[in-house]
Amino acid sequence: MKNDRSILNANEWRSYDFKETDQNQGVKPPAVCKPFPENGIVINLPRPENWEWQQSGDLSKLIRERVSVRKYLKDALSLEELSYLLWSTQGIREEINQATSKRFVPSAGSRHALETYLAVLNVEGVTPGMYRYLPKEHQLLFLYLPEEFSSMIVSSVKGQVFCSTANVVFYWSAIPYRMEWRYAVASTKLILLDAGHVCQNLYLTAGAIGCGTCAIAAYDQVEADKLCQLDGEEELIIYIAPVGKKNREL
Ligand SMILES: Cc1cc2nc3c(=O)[nH]c(=O)nc-3n(C[C@H](O)[C@H](O)[C@H](O)COP(=O)(O)O)c2cc1C
Repeated sequence: MKNDRSILNANEWRSYDFKETDQNQGVKPPAVCKPFPENGIVINLPRPENWEWQQSGDLSKLIRERVSVRKYLKDALSLEELSYLLWSTQGIREEINQATSKRFVPSAGSRHALETYLAVLNVEGVTPGMYRYLPKEHQLLFLYLPEEFSSMIVSSVKGQVFCSTANVVFYWSAIPYRMEWRYAVASTKLILLDAGHVCQNLYLTAGAIGCGTCAIAAYDQVEADKLCQLDGEEELIIYIAPVGKKNREL
């Protein structure tokens, strides 16, 4: 069966006049990051830039040994390790202005239309529950502890039980308008390309700290959005990845 390939096809954009984009029409750009309540409960993450083990990682070895890992140990993840994973996947290198940031992953037009939600299950010093990463502050924002947390995670990934045995599950959402403001009809493809870079960085930095991950696209849209408290329209989950400590030989 042939699928609709229009999203892959740059010819589809030829008839669109990019002078019509909201950016070119002078519409105010959307903010770099989703806002959060002033009185929210936040956890400061240690900044990883100068950690010694970060410099000692052998990139070629990490690439060579990268595989999807679906079996995890019960050992806890440290807050430093979680901080490193968040920093490498969505951390901000430089805030250019209210609407544009440069990060450690590339993004079309530096639009960075993704947000990171975490189901924290076994991280030292962090109460289990749902959190959102605040890239500008390099903090975690506590959202809530769902009832039947583990089974909600499993439902969100269509019964892939191994995800609930991880230390933490990354849920990446897209806020499409952040990309649409600049790229209009091309946005969907660009958002998805961006997500690939993010997950690849997670594979490599997880490997660097003795963890494994597995990209997840077989997820339940409604359940994943519900778990992350998203409306599924202005913001929706597009990609998921559990991270857990792994046996050396895995
Ligand atoms: C976009 C994408 C979606 C994926 N979705 C799932 C998934 O839902 N469940 C799963 O167990 N693995 C998933 N995988 C992992 C692939 O099965 C895995 O990458 C592939 O078998 C190659 O194995 P390797 O990553 O160990 O090289 C996904 C990988 C990618 C890149």
